Amino acid sequence: MGCIGRKTKIQKKLLHWFKQNKRDLPWRKTRDPYAIWVSEIMLQQTQVNTAIPYYNHFLKTFPTVRSLARANLSKVLKIWEGLGYYSRARNLHQASRIIANHLKGKIPETPKDLLSLPGIGRYTAGAILSIAYNKETPILDGNVKRVLSRLFVVSGHPKKTEEFLWPLSESLIPKGSPGAFNQALMDLGSVICTPKNPNCLGCPLKYFCQGYLSGKPGSYPVRSVKKKVPHIEAIAAVIQKDGKVLIRQRPPRGLLGGLWEFPNWPIDGGKNLKKYLRLKVKGNFGLKVKCKEPLGTFKQTYSHFKLTLHAYHCQVVDGIGNGKWVPIKNLPLLPLSKIHRKIANTIVPK
Ligand code: ADE
Repeated sequence: MGCIGRKTKIQKKLLHWFKQNKRDLPWRKTRDPYAIWVSEIMLQQTQVNTAIPYYNHFLKTFPTVRSLARANLSKVLKIWEGLGYYSRARNLHQASRIIANHLKGKIPETPKDLLSLPGIGRYTAGAILSIAYNKETPILDGNVKRVLSRLFVVSGHPKKTEEFLWPLSESLIPKGSPGAFNQALMDLGSVICTPKNPNCLGCPLKYFCQGYLSGKPGSYPVRSVKKKVPHIEAIAAVIQKDGKVLIRQRPPRGLLGGLWEFPNWPIDGGKNLKKYLRLKVKGNFGLKVKCKEPLGTFKQTYSHFKLTLHAYHCQVVDGIGNGKWVPIKNLPLLPLSKIHRKIANTIVPK
């Protein structure tokens, strides 16, 4: 079969399969480019089922790009709390302000303009343009890479193959149905052409799939070796006074940027943890404390390291310090990272 005939058949089969099997997802009930943009940002590092309630809550709170632009970052981060990769929320917010203030509130309609916004890369631009604006722009994320690598037995280092897969993804888009086709690729990758044990027998493309016909679909794409992530241990101070607790805000950029947390510092195997913590609190907040009993040990895995955080109750001996004291009952209102939310949930006012 020639390449052209094969591609046409792949398009037809996949679109037909999508019509009958597409997942019923909230962002598929709209063509609003803003809503589709929000969904694609959430789905970048997050499973569909996790994203759904966040998506609904986000759009209820910020139904338009201008309402998002007017909000303060803390409120946006609060709604994003628990989803992780908070730079997504910060970039979304920053981009909404650019759109509201400089683009008359209209989500751009060209790759160049979309790519100039913070947080929008080639994949997200392709998804917005094809789904919301029906433009024939390709997408390539982990799912689509896997589907195309199997269909066309593309092997080689994952980074290298991207140069080949982008034009391939583009060449497959059927005229007139880019949004449906791109979403069909996503669904096929999530539901049928899964990383482990793909359901080849249930796949609409099995007779066009060189990976299946080779008998080893699981060998594509070549998996990159996972690096071992470092393990960091840290110690946190839970300092209470008169129904309030001392917290600090992380710098606006970088890991967990803009979120609030209990003061904490990395430890490197030193023995006297309580003394270390006391000195850190004094040095950073000008506050004299006595470190008391442990409140608990909490663990979290991030993209580049694992964290174990030992939290201690501390009692103020002297001074008010230069940190922010919040009433314990107000902690639920602030955006905290997962690990600090766990600590907050174990605090009993003293
Ligand atoms: N993954 C990324 N974008 C998606 C979408 N629009 N629908 C389903 N899964 C997705």
